[in-house]
Amino acid sequence: MLSYSGAVVRGIASSLPANALRMSDPGEKLDLDKANQEHRAYVAALQNTLGAENVHVLDADDKYPDCVFVEDPVVVCNGVALMTRPGHTSRRGEGDAFLPLFERLGIKTVVMEEPACMDGGDVLFTGSEFFVGLSKRTNQAGIDVLAATFPSHPVHAVPVEAGLHLKSMMSMAAPGTIAIGCSGAAQSAKQLVSAKATSSYTFLEFADDLAANVVHVNGKILHVPAASFERSRAALAELGKLGETVQLCNEELNKVDGALTCCSVLLA
Ligand code: GLY
Repeated sequence: MLSYSGAVVRGIASSLPANALRMSDPGEKLDLDKANQEHRAYVAALQNTLGAENVHVLDADDKYPDCVFVEDPVVVCNGVALMTRPGHTSRRGEGDAFLPLFERLGIKTVVMEEPACMDGGDVLFTGSEFFVGLSKRTNQAGIDVLAATFPSHPVHAVPVEAGLHLKSMMSMAAPGTIAIGCSGAAQSAKQLVSAKATSSYTFLEFADDLAANVVHVNGKILHVPAASFERSRAALAELGKLGETVQLCNEELNKVDGALTCCSVLLA
């Protein structure tokens, strides 16, 4: 089983409520205090799983409103960090804050260059292969750089027909099990994943795409509560059969397209 030695998280910029990128405006403003409260619970859950000393907390930088979403500027696998070139210009530069930490931890870095671009939210690593969303934020050149950086794993492109990232509609719920949404875009992606996969996967279907974004870390599954996603109640309950579960409310960051995986980089 893929096991993680630590994680990187980052505080929430006070510029997030006013300046976050978001696909649509839900009309409801993000409450920064509540977002910080939910984020503290998220960090605590990772610390309980990985050990407090192994969860590295970077300071927020108000210059980068979306910097709490650490999974986008970096992809770590086999002790190598690919510093991506995020798809939205306002996010370029977020990755610099990781470099002293990676140097201290002995994690080698590879820097993605123009014209490639990628958000780590498009990168699903199953433990043996990568599925990478071709989205508004990630292009084929970015996928080629990822394939060259991690040559020991197959890499498959999956068009993202709607939504922000590939992982806005799917994630690893357990080794060999992919949590997947039920939207048309999620179901098209599922077909492609099934067709291209070199390993076999079981799919656990969620009525709400966002509820299908869970963090599987060393046997534990961090997921949103059914109270936030009633239609996905049955699927959320199924997660309990796959591992020890921890419920984490993420309603504030959901307002700016942030899902649970977005807020950590797991160190493998
Ligand atoms: N708000 C997350 C993103 O758009 O990058």
